[in-house]
Amino acid sequence: MTHPAATAPSAPPPPEAVGPLMRSLSVLRELATGGGRRSVGDLVRDTGLARSTVDRVLSTLTRLGYVRTEGRDAVLAPRLLELGNAYLAASELPDRLGPLADRLADELDESVSLAVPDGDGVRFVHQATRRRAMSLAFRIGDLLPAERGAPGALFADGWDEADWQRWRARRAADPTDAGFPAVPPRRAEDEAVGAAAAADFVARVAAARTTGWSLDDQLIEPGLVAVAVPVRDADGRPVCALSVVSHTSRLSADALPGAVLPRLRETVSAMEDALRAPHEGPASETAPGPAHATWMRASKQELGPEFVESMARGLITLTAFGSGRAALPLSAVAEATGLARATARRALITLEHLGYLTTDGKLFRPTPKVLELGFAHLAGLSLPDIALPHLASLVERVHDSASMAVLAGDDIQYVARVPTVRIMSVNITLGTRFPAYPTSMGRVLLAGLPPAERSARLARLRPEPLTRHTVTDPERLGALLEEAHSAGYALVDEELEEGLRSLAVPVHDRTGRVVAAVNVSTHAARSTPDEAREALLPALRTAAAGIEADLWVAGRYARIPVR
Ligand code: PHB
Repeated sequence: MTHPAATAPSAPPPPEAVGPLMRSLSVLRELATGGGRRSVGDLVRDTGLARSTVDRVLSTLTRLGYVRTEGRDAVLAPRLLELGNAYLAASELPDRLGPLADRLADELDESVSLAVPDGDGVRFVHQATRRRAMSLAFRIGDLLPAERGAPGALFADGWDEADWQRWRARRAADPTDAGFPAVPPRRAEDEAVGAAAAADFVARVAAARTTGWSLDDQLIEPGLVAVAVPVRDADGRPVCALSVVSHTSRLSADALPGAVLPRLRETVSAMEDALRAPHEGPASETAPGPAHATWMRASKQELGPEFVESMARGLITLTAFGSGRAALPLSAVAEATGLARATARRALITLEHLGYLTTDGKLFRPTPKVLELGFAHLAGLSLPDIALPHLASLVERVHDSASMAVLAGDDIQYVARVPTVRIMSVNITLGTRFPAYPTSMGRVLLAGLPPAERSARLARLRPEPLTRHTVTDPERLGALLEEAHSAGYALVDEELEEGLRSLAVPVHDRTGRVVAAVNVSTHAARSTPDEAREALLPALRTAAAGIEADLWVAGRYARIPVR
């Protein structure tokens, strides 16, 4: 079931609306509510679109890098995050306020989040999570019903009669909150409680108006408590809410406000100052530029009817927005995307009709609803999740096993693996560790450390000969690391195990730091080292570049765990 606010609005689309764009968005929404993966058959059934239409939507979305297909399934791909990133960058909230929220989380040693109003819901735009194992953690892009959680009561203070009516209609249509996959559903037997909670919401809104803060006493799940304060713009309108989240095992709902409100309010006032400061963010990274026009033509030529230009154009329109580009007139959108004015105009009208943009008639702005397009799911991926499809394509190309590892002390630890035949005496599974120095992944990981740290590690290493070939001389090892650093790869022959050859390249995050390594392992007897390098290195580099591109989009606002 889809959230009522997430379904197409009941008003008929304006005559300028671009049909293929609307259809692609309904496919993306279905994928998002299905946890990022649906079979093509299910998509046909649940969108009501013809099979051939769904196929064309999927091939166009695949070309854009927003979706990939795995057998019969369509799967959301990290590149899609660029749409949500455009909204988040344009809103400036995570960039301006995120560091202050992070500092508060550090000081209180509790989770802190920023959320914005989205229809009759509340959507998270920043998370500084200190969540202990015992409660669920929300992701950027997750949506709460306004009446569950602390921030909603602050935003509902500004609702008019129509807003309240819409809220009541939604409650009646979805009494268990099935349309909000981020929150545990209310059980059927809780419905009386749910009704009481609804009445209680009205009271909580009134209380929040007088006190200036709002409390969540286990409205989402037992134990989870939160207090929220609105962050207002220069005109006094709440633009977001800052929440501190705790657990009844540490702080009761009664004790929470007293314990955190003073620091919470100080942070809010610093945030309000930050909002008033002139814009000085980096120029938008997302503005695509007219290069898209060339890409569009090439895609059409290659895919023919399976590439629907109006759909692709409509979607990339959103990427015109970004940091310092929060509100754009039609002409700026056309210029940034390389689209003809008439084309950009129809795309903007369509996106506005569907609630992804608002306009005052002149300027268009992206809305938090853009985040419903799979952001929460994709922002929750780990580095291994992101890497796996790239490792699978690599294995398809080279027919040898591929893996990803990270540094764990002086070891490497496997975090993702796509095996073919087993050529090692030990069976490598996720979590397997080897010493870093005699492995190709270890060499690129050590080589990626800052010089001082690299030497410090080398100095304390006590390398052991694991085969006849293992390099144990610290000086030679140092030279090999230097070589791996400048060449951007390491080839290690039979140093970990006789007969085993491995070639690895680094994976960098947005800041250029080496966060992981990917490798291909093969039989040493099958070829010379030069032949192996020639056969494997380009494919390995393509895989690493693909992982890095995804990681850079995904890591713009979300923290991507490396394991
Ligand atoms: C959260 O950030 O996870 C959060 C915020 C407000 C709530 C509950 C949870 O009421």
